[in-house]
Amino acid sequence: MQKLVIEGGIPLQGEIRISGAKNAALPILCATLLSRETLHVENVPHLKDVTTMLSLLAQMGVGITLDASQCVELSGREIPNPVAPYELVKTMRASILVLGPLLARTGRASVSLPGGCAIGLRPVDLHIKGLQAMGAEIEVANGYIQASASKLHGARICMDLVSVTGTENLMMAATLARGVTVIENAAREPEVVDLANCLISMGAKISGAGSDTIEIEGVDELHGARHRVMPDRIESGTFLVAAAASLGKIKLHGARSDILDAVLDKLSESGAHISTGEESIFLEMRDRPKSVNVRTAPYPAFPTDMQAQFMVLNSVAEGSALITETIFENRFMHVQELCRMGAHIEVEGNAAMVRGKERLGGATVMATDLRASASLVIAGLVARGETTIERIYHIDRGYECIEEKLAQLGAKIRRMA
Ligand code: UD1
Repeated sequence: MQKLVIEGGIPLQGEIRISGAKNAALPILCATLLSRETLHVENVPHLKDVTTMLSLLAQMGVGITLDASQCVELSGREIPNPVAPYELVKTMRASILVLGPLLARTGRASVSLPGGCAIGLRPVDLHIKGLQAMGAEIEVANGYIQASASKLHGARICMDLVSVTGTENLMMAATLARGVTVIENAAREPEVVDLANCLISMGAKISGAGSDTIEIEGVDELHGARHRVMPDRIESGTFLVAAAASLGKIKLHGARSDILDAVLDKLSESGAHISTGEESIFLEMRDRPKSVNVRTAPYPAFPTDMQAQFMVLNSVAEGSALITETIFENRFMHVQELCRMGAHIEVEGNAAMVRGKERLGGATVMATDLRASASLVIAGLVARGETTIERIYHIDRGYECIEEKLAQLGAKIRRMA
């Protein structure tokens, strides 16, 4: 199993390019299931989760061509096998995103219950309830969601909780349903908007994406389109925190600051100097960071996918801070690994009190989920001595070329078998 070895203590300095967003690319790739025509998707990040999604679509019958410039051409003329098997979906919860499109297009779907990061129960009841409201018959048996519908119809769906993939699944299904669907308490995440824009360019009639009420008027069919995936705001935020924690100075190219307000505000509060351009973000941290309280919540509030990284920033900051996780019930697994590197963190329920200290120390640690592994990389970058991160496959699910990009910023990092 591969490991990352990091020699810490070097401030990150330099410039890198931000990749396409994993969480936008995954639903957008699934949108191909809604049309017989070809979908060209540009700026697709080269990640394990993307490869898994492409394999999943390919075994359903979608023709896929990749080119060297991160462009994927998908053609779902027929979908002979509307099945998402356990072997493919067990590592990736986002595979549930095929359910809505399959059902809308072919009238049937058999989708294994997803796995993915072990950060909580993460049920899919909202996806199922929403599709049932649109006329689907669904039962769960032997670990599979078996769904069928002769033709989905529009419905008014009020989501009990804000769910990103839940909103995306229902929005995709509704594009081909008969009549109008209204999704209330919808997720407002920028990735939902990116998917909606892709669907609109395929001929879907959607309004309100980005607000908490999305209205979709079903059409008979969608056509082919070309769409460029938005930049990854979590990758951007992760590199900015790494620069801030290491007292560095970096510039991100191809990044969007308008969708990172909550994160940039917290970085400024911790003492970072930030300036933003049309497609760039510059950050410099001149002095030891100050502690900042963080409370995760749905967009536009502070993202849960940045919580672990801020835990590290606070671990080396001046003062104490409280980190409250309100989205997932088991998302503090990085805490015990950070404590092994000398961090002072106490967890009670869904809150962690972090007392900052001058320096962490290198250690051998274990990555437990995607964003937790990003936090361990940042910890390794700021720690004195050598840090070895095991089970690094988690990070390859969501960060494109992480060690190349960090090396470009001056980090001493290498991958070992
Ligand atoms: C997406 C993101 C993930 C991010 C998360 C929250 C993708 C591929 N993944 O995950 O990176 O951390 O949003 O911003 O976009 N819930 C239910 N029932 C459901 C669905 C969700 O109870 O049917 C709960 C979940 O357990 C969780 C909360 O709702 O507590 C939010 O989850 P959700 O927004 O659905 O997360 P994902 O879409 O899986």
